[in-house]
Amino acid sequence: MSEQETISPASALYWYPRVQALGTPRTKFVEFDYMDALSMLDGEDPKRFPWGELTAAVEEVGYPVFLRTDQASAKHEGPNAYLVDGPGAIPRCTGLTIEDNAMKDLSPLAMMVREFLPIVHRFTAFRGLPIGYELRVFATAEEVVCAHYYWPEEAIRFWTEAAEPPRWRVLLAAMAFDVLGTQMVLESALQMRAVEAAKLCPAVDAWSVDFALVADDVWYLIDMAPAEWSWHPEHLA
Ligand SMILES: Nc1ncnc2c1ncn2[C@@H]1O[C@H](COP(=O)(O)OP(=O)(O)OP(=O)(O)O)[C@@H](O)[C@H]1O
Ligand SMILES: [Mg+2]
Repeated sequence: MSEQETISPASALYWYPRVQALGTPRTKFVEFDYMDALSMLDGEDPKRFPWGELTAAVEEVGYPVFLRTDQASAKHEGPNAYLVDGPGAIPRCTGLTIEDNAMKDLSPLAMMVREFLPIVHRFTAFRGLPIGYELRVFATAEEVVCAHYYWPEEAIRFWTEAAEPPRWRVLLAAMAFDVLGTQMVLESALQMRAVEAAKLCPAVDAWSVDFALVADDVWYLIDMAPAEWSWHPEHLA
């Protein structure tokens, strides 16, 4: 796609280049033809899928990588669907990610190959996805509208785990408390970054901006979406 302007703001091809300098994981895009790629879902090898280019991008970012499309990840399928730890994992993660996007009725334009972040977490769910310190900030170019812990309790599912992690609800509540506390303490840092991100992405007024903690006080900006299309917990004010 040559004209940035024609890209939907829901696509990372729109927002990532604009906010790249605001503390994001290293990222490469590999564009592909979604209609052609859908034949993967029937167990066929798509005619035009850029496997060589994708492998080169993964190697350039360096194993392990986090694989998603410009639209979304298959996070609820667990690491089997997004963690590429060697060349053999590329077709599996790609296939599961395309399938996930198809089920969500998305039309991705590119695979998004990202530096894998060791997100600080206290347990895993969804077959091994870390449930950790993540913050979703809703912001415009002028102000922060509100901020929430990223993982609502009712969204957490355990698929094949033999047993639920002990005390996971307590751990989740403790992380939510910490994250919202940090968010207030770091007001001038995280909140200003969210406002700055919205400023750099003028296609829509209001954005959700997701941050993840990887080390003491080191928060990466990992995802964005137009606010009206983002999950948002109910709150009073
Ligand atoms: N680079 C990364 N390294 C490790 N884990 C990651 C990385 N990027 C994202 N994750 C994990 O995967 C989750 C989903 O990632 P991401 O936000 O990119 O996908 P999404 O499908 O667009 O999610 P959302 O539904 O929040 O929009 C994150 O909340 C985080 O837990
Ligand atoms: Mg997203």
